[in-house]
Amino acid sequence: MREKILELQKAASALEPETEDQHRYRSQADDFVRRFYETIPHQKAYRRFDDSVDKLLDEPIGEEPIPSDEILHQVESRVVPPGLNPVSGGHMGYIPGGGLLTSAIGDYLAAATNRYASVYFSSPGAVVLETRLVRWMCDLVGYGDEAGGYLASGGSMANMTAVVAARDTAGLEPQQFSSVVVYMTRQAHHCVDRALNIAGLKSARRRFIGMDERYRMRTGELIEAIREDRKNGLKPWMVVANAGSTDTGVIDPLDEIAETARREELWFHVDAAYGGFFLLTDEGKSLLKGIGEADSVVLDPHKGLFLPYGLGALVIKERQNLAEAHSYSADYMQDARIDSKIPSPADISPELSRHFRGLRMWLPLKIHGVAAFRASLREKLLLAKYVWQELSQLEGFETGPEPDLSVIIFRCKPPGVDPDEFNRELHRRLVDDGRIFFSTTRINGQFMLRLAILSVRTHLGEIDLLLKLLREKMTEILEGGRAE
Ligand SMILES: Cc1ncc(COP(=O)(O)O)c(C=O)c1O
Repeated sequence: MREKILELQKAASALEPETEDQHRYRSQADDFVRRFYETIPHQKAYRRFDDSVDKLLDEPIGEEPIPSDEILHQVESRVVPPGLNPVSGGHMGYIPGGGLLTSAIGDYLAAATNRYASVYFSSPGAVVLETRLVRWMCDLVGYGDEAGGYLASGGSMANMTAVVAARDTAGLEPQQFSSVVVYMTRQAHHCVDRALNIAGLKSARRRFIGMDERYRMRTGELIEAIREDRKNGLKPWMVVANAGSTDTGVIDPLDEIAETARREELWFHVDAAYGGFFLLTDEGKSLLKGIGEADSVVLDPHKGLFLPYGLGALVIKERQNLAEAHSYSADYMQDARIDSKIPSPADISPELSRHFRGLRMWLPLKIHGVAAFRASLREKLLLAKYVWQELSQLEGFETGPEPDLSVIIFRCKPPGVDPDEFNRELHRRLVDDGRIFFSTTRINGQFMLRLAILSVRTHLGEIDLLLKLLREKMTEILEGGRAE
């Protein structure tokens, strides 16, 4: 048996490369990243693609090794280029962020050292670091000492964890689920609905509260709906407010909603996945007044802190509510239970084994300092105001409300054309060009163009290019010209 074991050890030895091979892999990866970063200013924000990318499906996951340079070349030439380019400053679609190199280095170090970041006993360093980041976000929101939270993979998971905590804090039993009511507007992100479904609350009633002309929840209607529901024997349970809605970027009246939720004894959840980190700016702080009254808040560092995808955060006013919803016990982990003031993420979240996520956030905050993030966020707010003003004055264009934060709704409306058709074509031509990418949405049934300015690399130059392209493509369509 010993001989067989040694034979297998030898056959598997490639998995632990010799020093020289390790060095080669690292320098190949480093060259890849260097080439990638050097070309970012010239990379398109969107690259149309055909189904040749699907041929990767036919690539065998074979028994034999393939040289690393060949494989990295495939990633560089075939995997990375097609589609949306989130690192481009020209990306103004959905909710961008950009991605920071220092965060990518954090990921690399986290994976290379492979700390077990979920349990204090296993990696106190990783857990303390995550706890520090959570405390920083609690302070940002305005929470007291009882607050806590955790780093999730993204906003959807963070919202889901909040819904579960709200469900269990209210002590809801399955037989009550169909009489439970959740209040939000049609601007709430669809992940809230999904979170309710995953939490077993598919049958819970979603009450969509009317919005004012700027798409903000009308608190008066919220109050009326709650009273009406109580009268009808239903159980008002939770209100979800937007702190930067995805579609239009608006912020619900958080302080008014907070007061209503407190009076009516509802769980108050704020989805600040997009807007939360604007709290770092004075403008954001005043726009988000009342956020600290919420029972739970979601913020996405992979949006507002410009990190690469893979980091959302939930902070909660009473950390105990998370612990009660997610505590577990497992005999095989008995020796990992040690007394500590620091909560292990595994005890307050649905995950156990997980990536050492804290490093990808901690490293850039430490290396660059918070002031640089604040400046970049202020720049985005000003860019949004600037582009909104420019679009409002651009002949042939009309804009939605002045942005609260950095999402702008607009469309081209030259006389005598079907606006939906025209804007669909305008958008298609912009995507074909690829230097700037933005997305579209429907507002009151109308096809609208939508800019979200949050990439760390979106600056005045990209905005000028956007305005130039919009003018050019509009003229091109009106003159019956063809896109290049
Ligand atoms: C307001 C809001 N909430 C939640 C989400 C979902 O977050 P994620 O995509 O990180 O899961 C998004 C995503 O854009 C969002 O904008």
